[in-house]
Amino acid sequence: MARSLLGKTVVVTGASRGIGKAIALALGKEGAQVLVHYGRHAREADQVVAEIRSMGSRSEKINADLAQPDGPHKLAKRAKEIIGGRLDILVANAGVFLPSSIDDLAVEEFDKLFAVNVRAPLFLVQQLRPIMCTGSNVIFVSSLAARATIGDFAAYAASKGALETTVKYLARAFGPHGIRVNAVAPGVIETDAAAFVKTGEGREHTLAMQTFKRIGSPEDVARVVAFLASNQARWITGEVVPVDGGSQL
Ligand SMILES: NC(=O)c1ccc[n+]([C@@H]2O[C@H](COP(=O)([O-])OP(=O)(O)OC[C@H]3O[C@@H](n4cnc5c(N)ncnc54)[C@H](OP(=O)(O)O)[C@@H]3O)[C@@H](O)[C@H]2O)c1
Repeated sequence: MARSLLGKTVVVTGASRGIGKAIALALGKEGAQVLVHYGRHAREADQVVAEIRSMGSRSEKINADLAQPDGPHKLAKRAKEIIGGRLDILVANAGVFLPSSIDDLAVEEFDKLFAVNVRAPLFLVQQLRPIMCTGSNVIFVSSLAARATIGDFAAYAASKGALETTVKYLARAFGPHGIRVNAVAPGVIETDAAAFVKTGEGREHTLAMQTFKRIGSPEDVARVVAFLASNQARWITGEVVPVDGGSQL
């Protein structure tokens, strides 16, 4: 798929680190102009922008706190200022993992999970929809946790379940306009958010539920997102694609 996204415009949320960074780099490598959204890590976002530019693609960073009600609106406004009237690919990846059990869960944690993991992606789609055209597509980043009980974190799992539910509704609403909407559902991926895989116990637990005996990398997810974002996936919409190394088979 060499430079298959040349001339395309892309927004990736949460692209300063982890899975979002790998997605931004993968799409930049394909030639797309990539807007690298970040929250608190400006320096990391600068590095991602620099790496994409070094591949010969255009890139800018955009800051917005997606826990705030107007975060998606600010992000969309700035994106429109940079790319103008056409967005080809939106990857709503930014998310928070607060692994509280039902006994420990605080109302503030629940609200933050749903603000960042559900409200922000939905309102971002709303705000960017006017500059999506026939051939544009949206990709959400869900989680294996939405469909399998992989830990004691019901609220996080529920936020991803809610996000997955929106995939079909948006796909149905946007399909007649030629816009696709899909999601990927990663299993355990080695990032800052999944710090538990750095412990012996966490690693064993993860490998025990997978048929593949290594921990997933951000690049494993980015490859699938790059496929879904490309014209190769033009007949796929309303789907959630597991990217989990054969977890819970
Ligand atoms: N890692 C896994 O095992 C795993 C598994 C399944 C699904 N996922 C999902 O994959 C996505 C990425 O996860 P990750 O593991 O790559 O996490 P990560 O390494 O913690 O990175 C999270 C990214 O989201 C951004 N972000 C978080 N809260 C934000 C906020 N309030 N406002 C703006 N940006 C915010 C962060 O930006 P800053 O750092 O700049 O603040 C960062 O770029 C999430 O949706 C997560 O739920 C991860």
